[in-house]
Amino acid sequence: MLKIGNVKIRKPVFVAPLAGISNEAYRKLCMDFGAGIVYSEMLSDKAIFYHNEKTKGMLEFGDIHPSVMQIFGSDPKTMANAARVADEVNCDIVDINMGCPVMKVIKTGAGSALMRDEDLAVKVTRAVIENTRKPVTVKMRLGYDARHLNYLSLSKKLEDVGVSAITLHARTRTQMYEGKASWEHVKILHENLHIPVIGNGDIRTLDDYIRHKDDCDAVMIGRGLVGNPFLIREINDYEKGKEIKEVTYREKIKACLKHTKSLVELKGEHIAIREMRGIAPHYIAGLYGSTVYKNRMAKVSTYKELEELLNEYQKVLKEAL
Ligand SMILES: Cc1cc2nc3c(=O)[nH]c(=O)nc-3n(C[C@H](O)[C@H](O)[C@H](O)COP(=O)(O)O)c2cc1C
Repeated sequence: MLKIGNVKIRKPVFVAPLAGISNEAYRKLCMDFGAGIVYSEMLSDKAIFYHNEKTKGMLEFGDIHPSVMQIFGSDPKTMANAARVADEVNCDIVDINMGCPVMKVIKTGAGSALMRDEDLAVKVTRAVIENTRKPVTVKMRLGYDARHLNYLSLSKKLEDVGVSAITLHARTRTQMYEGKASWEHVKILHENLHIPVIGNGDIRTLDDYIRHKDDCDAVMIGRGLVGNPFLIREINDYEKGKEIKEVTYREKIKACLKHTKSLVELKGEHIAIREMRGIAPHYIAGLYGSTVYKNRMAKVSTYKELEELLNEYQKVLKEAL
């Protein structure tokens, strides 16, 4: 069992924050599959403080524990305000985003831009720690670019300030999501910090997990779980020494509809189905004849349409396999 501050995490998989995906419905699904802890998508410090309409729903954590609220910003004052709001919502940990590579965020000095200004990164972190009773963690990259790999020096400073864990996405900002994650750096960080280190990047299969689990205290998975929450179950079964069950197409279709239904309840059918157009096809990726159905799934307008389409596909699969 891993402890972050006073929060106990009893299962191995950390579910990464994914903007546009990591809402309450997705977090609940991953928890039902046996996740150790789930992260919200990143929330802007200012939006949190002013409780704008969009962020309001995002501050709902339901009864999903342990869960992490991730915030981003670069102004210690507004980050302190966001930290105070964190005390009022039902999350267990507050995480500061120092990894986001997108220009819109970088331009404000937040996300991975904070890695270029270690003093400011420390000030922001201190402001958050001083304004919440919850454990504070930081998620970062290796550095801004290949010539500035400062994850180790920054992490040590943040450890001194009092953060309770560091997550390292083993790429630089300029790499965005290209190339391969450099896990050797996760290992270096793990060897040099006293607080837990969570390793992240390119874990797609149980074999990836097995290869990297000892490089860190826990592994965080992002894209590898979208359409494949079964990987959480596989990892749990592996850790318990149980036999790894192959995932059936029926299970995949069932999980896709469960995810969709839950998102419809959260956001209403119109928005939910549009969001699922980009997510649902992942559930059937790699299955026999999936290309045609993936394309059709990307055009559905109602839950019923998606359900009928998947029922049709299930019949095709039954006959073919
Ligand atoms: C669509 C998308 C949205 C993301 N949103 C966030 C976010 O809100 N906060 C964050 O810290 N990282 C975010 N990330 C980065 C992931 O959390 C993770 O660090 C990265 O995808 C590498 O892990 P993976 O290879 O397991 O996906 C996002 C990544 C993607 C692809």
